[in-house]
Amino acid sequence: RKPDPCIVVIFGASGDLTKRKLLPALFHLEQEGLLPEEFAVVGVARRDLSATFAKDMRDGILKGGGVDDDDPKLKEFVDRVHYFTTNFDDDQGFQNLNATLSDLDTRYGTKGNRLFYLAVAPEYFSDIIHRLGKHKMAKPESDAWVRVIIEKPFGHDLQSARELNDEVNQVLDEDQIFRIDHYLGKETVQNILVFRFGNGIFEPVWNRTYIDNVQITAAESIGIEGRGPFYEKAGASRDILQNHMMEVLSYVAMEPPDSFEASTIRVEKLKVWRAIEQLKLEDTVRGQYGPGTVDGQQAIGYREEDRVDPNSQTETFAALKLEIENWRWAGVPFYIRAGKRLAKRETEVTITFKQPPLHIFKGTTNDCGTQVTPNILTMRIQPDEGISLRFGAKVPGPTTNIAPVTMNFKYADAFGKSTANGYERLLLDAMLGDATLFAHRDGVEATWALFTPLLEKWAETPVSDFPNYDAGSWGPEASNELLARDGRCWKSC
Ligand code: BG6
Repeated sequence: RKPDPCIVVIFGASGDLTKRKLLPALFHLEQEGLLPEEFAVVGVARRDLSATFAKDMRDGILKGGGVDDDDPKLKEFVDRVHYFTTNFDDDQGFQNLNATLSDLDTRYGTKGNRLFYLAVAPEYFSDIIHRLGKHKMAKPESDAWVRVIIEKPFGHDLQSARELNDEVNQVLDEDQIFRIDHYLGKETVQNILVFRFGNGIFEPVWNRTYIDNVQITAAESIGIEGRGPFYEKAGASRDILQNHMMEVLSYVAMEPPDSFEASTIRVEKLKVWRAIEQLKLEDTVRGQYGPGTVDGQQAIGYREEDRVDPNSQTETFAALKLEIENWRWAGVPFYIRAGKRLAKRETEVTITFKQPPLHIFKGTTNDCGTQVTPNILTMRIQPDEGISLRFGAKVPGPTTNIAPVTMNFKYADAFGKSTANGYERLLLDAMLGDATLFAHRDGVEATWALFTPLLEKWAETPVSDFPNYDAGSWGPEASNELLARDGRCWKSC
């Protein structure tokens, strides 16, 4: 199904996200024939980029790959990309923007339907929403629709998230709000639910009886990419853990929903987050990278990055252990870690199953001193997207030696290489009004409720050993100790 005719209006269009992800994603939808014919894009930002914006977006689309320079579709698409300059607190600017959008409606036949995308720094969310309300841009008078996508981070802690929710709800109905978490747009994340609930064989063993522990890793080899001021306030917990990792965790841990619908999925996710025990300080690890070598290149330390405090206490790595106190998961530890400037880019979910109850193959031990290697299911979110299952096989020969072997599914082999970046599905769903893959007010507040006490405790107890890991390593030693004290290690054993 194609969305209704509409204009996508991107606030903060001068930022990296628009060029690198949003416009390429919209163009991918166009390539797939999924955009309405009556369609336009308007980038809005404070700097006047009207002369170069469309060309810049074209460059971004080409860089994303999967399109030729002379593709007529690309020209047609870029011809419908416009730019508007205004400050986000400028009433006159919003009035003019509204008039411009009406003119574009006449030109393109977009019928007053708007998808506003707030790709701005969080401090501008309120200004923009407030002005959309004030200038009657939030509630259309005719039967047109207005929807607003709000980027993360949604709030800074529980209180600010609540305040922002209240503010937004004064202007918009909940069904107009699309709080985006781009991890939910990733095929591999959506596939967690398909893997679990679209197959019969995994769900029976998906519980405390068979699973020893669950690990979720979001390792990035990149640093903060010039985003010093943003990252100084966010840190790994606010940037990745409270949102992306909690979304992935909810997909891994939720109960089977009755249907694949926004309201049902939301309830199941919420039940998971609310069942998580209060995070304990001793079950958490903070790290900050110092200089090192990443991918064979010298990398500076976090405190040397542009616009970062030379004594910064911001964590660029965080690891924690948590438990979900419900019937399915009681007693199963979930270990989660995310960090910048780690050894490689690797986001995955690792499920380690319990050992067989009886060891009948005497004399065979692995590196961890156990007799057989446990079965491990790895869901590779990115890169090298796929799923693998490790199991033990008899090594051919006269003795019964067991070696771990792997069954491997690779997306690229099964479905071909994709240039999609995750935003395609989310933009399309928002245009269609389907909020299944978006965060809801209650969910955002539930995850902040979980993280806020920890972040407060961290703020009260400054770290004395930062930087405590080298760029290009797997994080601070304490992260290994977090698992070692439970007799476990990251990824295997
Ligand atoms: C963003 C964070 O939300 O996610 C970035 O702000 C991070 O710091 C990015 O690099 C990671 O996204 P992906 O899709 O590359 O895993």
